[in-house]
Amino acid sequence: MDHCKGCSGSKVDKEIEKITKKYKGVDGGIISALHEVQDLYGYIPESVQKYLSSNLDISMSEIYGIITFYSRFSLMPKGKYNVQVCMGTACYVKGAEAVLKEFKEKLKINEGEVTSDGKFSIEAVRCIGACGLAPAIVVNSDVYGKVAPDKVDEIISKYANE
Ligand code: FES
Repeated sequence: MDHCKGCSGSKVDKEIEKITKKYKGVDGGIISALHEVQDLYGYIPESVQKYLSSNLDISMSEIYGIITFYSRFSLMPKGKYNVQVCMGTACYVKGAEAVLKEFKEKLKINEGEVTSDGKFSIEAVRCIGACGLAPAIVVNSDVYGKVAPDKVDEIISKYANE
């Protein structure tokens, strides 16, 4: 989506209104609301945080705390395919740094950035629970193990034409 996230009068704004209404007064509703916003945009825009804060009577700092606590939530936009390169200890010692460098070079972006066509983003993450497959990466929900830098091209091209 390339229009203003949460701007008044947009279709997206109506979605946010719907989500807010659904969780108003519900115990722990903010977590469910944030999940829905994350699914809708791929991240939680600041304008939406403000909207949820004033409409669900939850402070901005509390919302920020939740977003940064759970790795599922993101403050930044992501590409259609988000490449997470594990930099946990097991992966690091098996060469994760070289894998991350190769992704950055091939996609011409840094961590936290999105390619100009909106297709890819890169994140360096902590252990993803696949240490036996180190070095491991995840593209959306696809896990790849024993990834060597010379496999990066093949992985990217799998998604580039989708
Ligand atoms: S350290 Fe990479 S999967 Fe555990």
